[in-house]
Amino acid sequence: MSRVGAWFIGARGSVATTATVGALAMQARLVGRTGMVTDHPDLAEAGLVDLDDVVVGGHDIACTPLPKRAEMLADAGVVPTSVVAALRDELAEVDARIRPGLQPGEEAPDIDRLVQDLRDFRDRYRLERVVVVNVSSTEPPAQEHAAHADVRDLEAALAAGEPVLPASSLYSVAALRAGCAFVDFTPSTGLRLPALRQLADRLGLPWAGSDGKTGETLVKSVLAPMFAARNLRVRSWSGTNLLGGGDGATLADPAAAQSKSISKGGGLPALLGYDVDSPLHIDYVPDLGDWKTAWDHVSFEGFLGTRMNLQFTWQGCDSALAAPLVIDLVRLLALALARGSSGSQPQLGFFFKDPVDTSEHALHEQWRALVAWVRDVEVTGS
Ligand SMILES: NC(=O)c1ccc[n+]([C@@H]2O[C@H](COP(=O)([O-])OP(=O)(O)OC[C@H]3O[C@@H](n4cnc5c(N)ncnc54)[C@H](O)[C@@H]3O)[C@@H](O)[C@H]2O)c1
Repeated sequence: MSRVGAWFIGARGSVATTATVGALAMQARLVGRTGMVTDHPDLAEAGLVDLDDVVVGGHDIACTPLPKRAEMLADAGVVPTSVVAALRDELAEVDARIRPGLQPGEEAPDIDRLVQDLRDFRDRYRLERVVVVNVSSTEPPAQEHAAHADVRDLEAALAAGEPVLPASSLYSVAALRAGCAFVDFTPSTGLRLPALRQLADRLGLPWAGSDGKTGETLVKSVLAPMFAARNLRVRSWSGTNLLGGGDGATLADPAAAQSKSISKGGGLPALLGYDVDSPLHIDYVPDLGDWKTAWDHVSFEGFLGTRMNLQFTWQGCDSALAAPLVIDLVRLLALALARGSSGSQPQLGFFFKDPVDTSEHALHEQWRALVAWVRDVEVTGS
């Protein structure tokens, strides 16, 4: 497969910067590839794009240059200082490819300009395919009217410059118009509106989402099937999340936190087969920086009604968990583009908290579906 563009919306954020440092460091053979799902032996022979052939660009509204953002992440212990020092020039080159994004609430947003940015990127670096990945700040849930608009109403409103869609959706429209695949690594609306789905189908382009599964929800999607398979009744599953960093600051806004709670909360009833009381808290603790702590308390009932509980504490470095998945998704969506796959890609649910067009949340089943798709095999019995 020839050269592929990875275009990050939110290119100067923690996740995108860590993914960029990681991709450049792997290209320069400065680091190993731990955490890269697409390097797993079950996936490695599928003809995925070589990382050496991936070129990074993006949009952002922040101005802090990428080398500076990378230094900040190194100071925080997220990425190795020596690697950032060795990649100064390469990071500056990527920074020069980052174009101004859409300001939140911008009146008459110029989608044509975003489309042109993507086309210029493709032409300039002679890219066969481009995958746009949204890793920008989480938005509040979409307005009702956007959810019900049909594709013609929407196109007319967009042509008139009316602010009908959230930024994540405008970026997804730009990606489609420029012939790119789209991935939503955030819980924002993105492409998940009937009119935009129709647009993706009409243009024959693949997309995937939503909201990267990197921590508490990842562990849940392994443990909940255990309770179900052993016929142990979960009585309540409470989760407390403490996080710092830019994501934590964004989620301190109750409207943005609502999007995250919706995407985190959906899997449990599907995994267990019944509704369960599952209160979820997200608290912003600036001191934690890029580290996140999740404490889950699972109360369950066994034989003869005996009450027991399981508790786990997950302490993860958010961006280090997310970044390799972002690069994996670029490689996988490039494969979907190469195969001519169109519309939502539920077989990539393995990567997401709120996977599109599938009710399968159990990690091992999602893995089976992913491997089968990559190897181009029909999955049976799932
Ligand atoms: N880190 C994880 O484990 C993880 C897991 C799942 C989802 N996510 C999601 O990934 C996203 C990024 O997380 P992060 O920690 O990098 O956050 P961050 O705050 O560090 O970065 C967000 C970036 O988006 C930019 N941005 C905001 N609005 C924009 C706009 N309209 N156009 C272009 N850029 C814009 C900001 O300037 C910033 O650079 C969040 O939505 C988060 O919920 C992260």
